[in-house]
Amino acid sequence: MNASPPATASVRHAPHTPAPSSVASAYLQIRKVTKTFGKFVALADVSLDIEPGEFICFLGPSGCGKTTLLRVIAGLEEQNTGQVIQNGVDVSRLPPSRRDFGIVFQSYALFPNLTAAQNIAYGLENEKMSRQQVQQRVQELLDLVGLPDAGPKFPAQLSGGQQQRIALARALALAPGLLLLDEPLSALDAKVRTNLRTEITALHRRIGVTTIMVTHDQEEALSMADRIVVMDQGRIVQIGTPLEIYRNPQTPFVANFVGVMNFLSGEIVAAGQRVQAAGFDLHLPHALNGAATGTPVQVAIRPEDVRLLGISNGTGDTRMARLCDVEFLGAFYRVRLELPSPTADTPPTRMLADVGAEAARVMPLVSGAEVAVQVPAELVQVFPEGGSA
Ligand SMILES: Nc1ncnc2c1ncn2[C@@H]1O[C@H](COP(=O)(O)OP(=O)(O)OP(=O)(O)O)[C@@H](O)[C@H]1O
Ligand SMILES: [Mg+2]
Repeated sequence: MNASPPATASVRHAPHTPAPSSVASAYLQIRKVTKTFGKFVALADVSLDIEPGEFICFLGPSGCGKTTLLRVIAGLEEQNTGQVIQNGVDVSRLPPSRRDFGIVFQSYALFPNLTAAQNIAYGLENEKMSRQQVQQRVQELLDLVGLPDAGPKFPAQLSGGQQQRIALARALALAPGLLLLDEPLSALDAKVRTNLRTEITALHRRIGVTTIMVTHDQEEALSMADRIVVMDQGRIVQIGTPLEIYRNPQTPFVANFVGVMNFLSGEIVAAGQRVQAAGFDLHLPHALNGAATGTPVQVAIRPEDVRLLGISNGTGDTRMARLCDVEFLGAFYRVRLELPSPTADTPPTRMLADVGAEAARVMPLVSGAEVAVQVPAELVQVFPEGGSA
């Protein structure tokens, strides 16, 4: 195993003169970064600009390169080619100790033999600060993370969530220009995770430090990020606000990875006018920007956009389906539907529809019932068949 850095670290501002601000407005620029491990390409030509004060999430499946990219930004991993420019300074070849960041990893990894206060003070040790100044700064940080009285406690006396807040305080001790978080919440249980999620967002709002958080939890990314960077197999596949990523995924992969999506196989039956998919006939004048009649497509619709009606409205966007089962998910019901196949040689289509508690009161959801299902054309997305799923 390689010698690993401390799980949290706070690194002193690098002693560089910032370039004139006119050079670039982005706080962090990642330019054409490639990183290989032997023959394996972990990052392939990754470029990204991050604005000052942004909260960015790297989101993607396990092994897609999120941690590697974060480590390249920190200098904990050296890229083969490409540049990292922070605050106008090319830091591409600088060691971590000369870069300006604080980092928190998934495991709390505080020093077990040091108190919370000593853990936080650890990064301040090499600073020319009096004992009193250190104490004052430590207390400020304890207050900041909402644990004003935790200073004398040892890590073993703190819960996981509390330990992670101390780790956060330690990463922020030197007021770094960049905060890097690698799955900081994933070891915590669900309730603590959501609480800390809100707290980290609030803290970010208060101190405004440019932040990058790695996560493979799409809910976390959607709720916390200003912009999400979706990655797959060492590449960035989409960058956008949570709403853009959710409402306008650029590929079936993104559509499928972020949120839940129904995919209905079909084809363009009249170019620039109509698409048929799973027996639905949809008026979609802009589908695939004028692709030819006969082009095979995937029509994607979110479960919450599928409508269940008591009776068919008699138009092409509605079909009868069998309600297979109903899953109660607290705020809503997830209904599994089966649509009979229009032809004998193709299997029935399965779909999910989410029904809010209010709507479920009006229309009782009974397994085995026949229901009318509507796919509103204005809420679907159309992808070419076989697009990068
Ligand atoms: N030091 C290394 N040596 C060889 N291969 C590595 C090394 N570090 C990472 N990899 C490989 O690079 C790929 C990307 O790894 P990385 O840790 O960046 O993924 P990740 O997106 O953070 O995944 P996870 O969500 O599981 O943490 C993986 O296939 C991993 O096995
Ligand atoms: Mg990782």
